[in-house]
Amino acid sequence: MQGRKRDGKQIACWLVFRMLPVTRPVLSFSAVGGSGYVLGGCVMEYAGMPWWKKGVVYQVSVTSFSDSDGDGIGDLRGIIDRLDYLNDSTSHSLGVDAIWLTPINASPMLDFGYDVSDYYSINPRFGSMHDFEELLHACHGRGIRVIMDMVLNHTSSEHPWFVESRSSRDDPKRDWYVWREGRSPGKPPNRWLAVVEGSAWEFDDSTRQFFYHAFLPFQPDLNWRNPEVREAMFDVVRFWLDKGVDGFRLDLINFLYEDELLRNNPRKYGIRPYDWQVHLYDRSRPESLEAAKGLRRITDEYPERVLMGEVYTDTPDDAVAYLGDGTDALHLSFYLDFAERKWRAEGFRESVQWLEEHLPAPGWSCYYLNNHDLMRTYTRLGRGGNAEARAKVAAAMMSTLRGTPIIYYGEEIGMPASKVPRKMMDDPIGKKFWPIPVGRDGSRTPMQWSGEKNAGFSRNEPWLPVDPSYGERNVERQDKEPDSLLNWYRRLVWTRKEKPALMAGSYRAIEGTPRGVFAYLRELGEERIAVFLNFTSGLVSLPNQHGVLGEGTWKTLLSTHGEEGGEVALENIRLQPDQALVLERR
Ligand code: NOJ
Repeated sequence: MQGRKRDGKQIACWLVFRMLPVTRPVLSFSAVGGSGYVLGGCVMEYAGMPWWKKGVVYQVSVTSFSDSDGDGIGDLRGIIDRLDYLNDSTSHSLGVDAIWLTPINASPMLDFGYDVSDYYSINPRFGSMHDFEELLHACHGRGIRVIMDMVLNHTSSEHPWFVESRSSRDDPKRDWYVWREGRSPGKPPNRWLAVVEGSAWEFDDSTRQFFYHAFLPFQPDLNWRNPEVREAMFDVVRFWLDKGVDGFRLDLINFLYEDELLRNNPRKYGIRPYDWQVHLYDRSRPESLEAAKGLRRITDEYPERVLMGEVYTDTPDDAVAYLGDGTDALHLSFYLDFAERKWRAEGFRESVQWLEEHLPAPGWSCYYLNNHDLMRTYTRLGRGGNAEARAKVAAAMMSTLRGTPIIYYGEEIGMPASKVPRKMMDDPIGKKFWPIPVGRDGSRTPMQWSGEKNAGFSRNEPWLPVDPSYGERNVERQDKEPDSLLNWYRRLVWTRKEKPALMAGSYRAIEGTPRGVFAYLRELGEERIAVFLNFTSGLVSLPNQHGVLGEGTWKTLLSTHGEEGGEVALENIRLQPDQALVLERR
């Protein structure tokens, strides 16, 4: 690989690399809420809201969710087997409205499927096209939408387009990728860096030119400036929409275009090598936003579809920019700032406030705390405190904010960040930088369904080892414990569904709370809900909340501690250590 060699300083930088039961009736696709609420003029606005604003999304890492055929790798039929768990239309299930599947297209799987070798087929490890159609059908039958991960920025180097492209300088597919001459013999065309490591340019020995890859060398970037490429990728999107998928999670959507003149980025100080540049010319170019708008136009030809974009950036401004005017670009854009906050009430409050102030008026946000690239919440936020209690507070926050919550599989049972031994590692980043613990395998271990062998994930040895916590932390066990994290998630999700103010209401931070408390109001019409989150491990007193909460009787809607349903004395609300308390005006 061309590019800079890692020195001691770089390795040190990587150390800090951002790894980064009650049963209630079914709420169907269109009938979520509405009747029975006194919402005045807000009823219309709420009733007309699309599902992706009101619903809860669940990210399924397909390789790790459920293995139906015993090959140790999760698959599509495995997901079908678990649909009751996700949503059986009663609050005994998690009640999710959509699943986002990590990439399922054909792929050599050198990067968890984010290296696609055929956009029109299903990776045989996961099943067949028929299996996918069955999954889609089964999900739709229960009101679960299906969101596909779509990798439009790059392909696998094994994709026939790239194989052709690199075969000769005159090949018709040559211009489908970004090929350039070096600045001088052996020197890459410019100083752009790959996100993972070193130069973003790889020298191809046979055709004596460099190709561009924003991520890893086996993930060459497509040349979106070529209209044929743009059309080809738009066709891919149409193909899956025609098949009936409900939307896409768009990988690295702000990376599609690079500066045509290949201008070098300005330098700056940063933690890891990639952060030593201001990524002015190699990402978030205006043309990428235009492409996102093009994708939106296509998506809008189909009813109720959604585009959720991964906008990989240092600043939250870019994430918001990809929502356009709130109607013409992405529907949802991942807001990394929130997911990277430390366990401090003030930090989360600031992050939410920023977003509330910067979202375009009709725009919408989504909140997530971990995913397949980030360290699991249970470990990251739980450090130095009561992890279980904090996980409950975090879940309450995500489920009660104004924005679509995205739950990462296993988060609901508190799966921890796993320590995967080197010989079992799969993640190219983990392998490359070992023993520096930056790999992502720890967040991708098999779902812990039960205390049985292989955690009930597979009847044979799984592709990644099951985390040793599975005996204690598993679905079967938590299902039976009324106060488990799993049952707390279920209550949160179903309460959200029942309360239009939680799904669609306005957000207002409650000012003047003691240090370590994040509190806010959610309001829609007459419905008013107050959320108090104690991020500290001490008792907190909130004297006289009358002025803040206003007239009326307030009852406990949800609490991590003690009785629910009782009336609350606003003269002095006392929060227990690590308590989440949700009140409702009656
Ligand atoms: C972002 C994805 O989330 C990550 O898992 C992947 O490695 C890169 N994009 C490259 O596609």
